[in-house]
Amino acid sequence: MTDGSVQEPVGDLADDIAEAHVLVTAGAGGVGKTTTAAALGLAGARAGRRTLVLTIDPARRLAQAMGLEHLDDEPRQVDLDGTQLNDLDLDGANLGSSDPDGAPEGGELWAMMLDMQTTFDRLIERHATSRERADAIRANRVYRTLSSNLSGTQEYMAMERLHELHDSGEWDLLIIDTPPTRSALDFLDAPRRMSSFLEGRLLQLLMRPGMAAGKGIGRVVGAGASAFMRVAGKVTGMDLLEDLGEFFRNFEGMYAGFKERADQVIELLQESTSRFVIVASPEPPPLREAHYFLDRLEQEGLHAAGIVINRIRPEVPRDPSGAAIDRVVEAQPDDLSGEAVAGAVRLLDDVRNLAARQRRDVAAALYGVTVPTRVDVPLLGGDVHDLRGLATIASTLSTGKPR
Ligand SMILES: Nc1ncnc2c1ncn2[C@@H]1O[C@H](COP(=O)(O)OP(=O)(O)OP(=O)(O)O)[C@@H](O)[C@H]1O
Ligand SMILES: [Mg+2]
Repeated sequence: MTDGSVQEPVGDLADDIAEAHVLVTAGAGGVGKTTTAAALGLAGARAGRRTLVLTIDPARRLAQAMGLEHLDDEPRQVDLDGTQLNDLDLDGANLGSSDPDGAPEGGELWAMMLDMQTTFDRLIERHATSRERADAIRANRVYRTLSSNLSGTQEYMAMERLHELHDSGEWDLLIIDTPPTRSALDFLDAPRRMSSFLEGRLLQLLMRPGMAAGKGIGRVVGAGASAFMRVAGKVTGMDLLEDLGEFFRNFEGMYAGFKERADQVIELLQESTSRFVIVASPEPPPLREAHYFLDRLEQEGLHAAGIVINRIRPEVPRDPSGAAIDRVVEAQPDDLSGEAVAGAVRLLDDVRNLAARQRRDVAAALYGVTVPTRVDVPLLGGDVHDLRGLATIASTLSTGKPR
């Protein structure tokens, strides 16, 4: 671990992997949140912990990387003793194993995918005042559209699922991937937005007498409820009004339960064993977003484990006559003296400049930011779609150094 200075790139997340109960990967779209979550899961298992990774997307590639046929709402165990991983000849110590001999002991890796509808349905079941009402809500077309379209629902359901998994008491370490939202901050806002939606003015307007007869629809539109406009686009005319009226009548009495649950989720995230792993790629926009996110965590009393700078270019050695250029020259045996060498030198310069610029951008973006640690994860050659790639990232996260 570093001493709080983000200028020092060689840090690691070993303590968090060994001690945290919840790790949430968050960051801008496409920076590597899902990959980092999976790699943290592998590191957790190798550290001897019973670990579950809750992914949001993209299920198929991650499932393949973990040797699973598919991922769904049920946790499925990843075979860490199978041939795929044995072939890698992994050194347990490199992956953060707490066992002095380097062999992982008792650790398990499980993975699952968030199923929003199932999670929302269970939430309705839990809070509905009667079974009839729960059934009526679940069958309601407005509910079905709303439950998958309301902005922030996915983020909220990820948190709700996290809470359920936490309650089950089955897991040492829960790793939560976050959805590819426009802004990572949406994730933090989700519980509050959900409760204010549920207890909000909009509902009161909708529940006024006359709603079912159609008199309220102008007010709904007037309230600027874009989610409702989306619903309105899918369920039309009187059907919409009837379903809306029924939906909100059945929802009566459930708001307090929802609100309480949202508060519990926030409390769980505020515990010192719940930590956010901020992921950014080494370009200014995702770095800026990471900066905002860290500020928000602090404001909300939430804990950052550290920042992962993912897909950073490895630094190029200074000496242009070194091994790197030899390799390029070897690839061009027929044109040793000519343009190939000049081209190779230019290419090397470009790559070196890019690697240096990325480090300057990271340093500039994180200037003055206090975060427990920073880990640089190098750009791997090709996508991460097998356990070997995940293992390389896992070991970097655990030790600060790529294997
Ligand atoms: N260190 C790395 N080296 C090379 N490729 C990487 C690395 N990390 C992630 N990738 C690749 O980058 C792509 C995006 O990664 P990933 O899906 O994890 O991002 P994400 O932040 O979850 O995206 P989204 O916001 O869409 O959910 C994937 O194809 C993944 O294999
Ligand atoms: Mg993702």
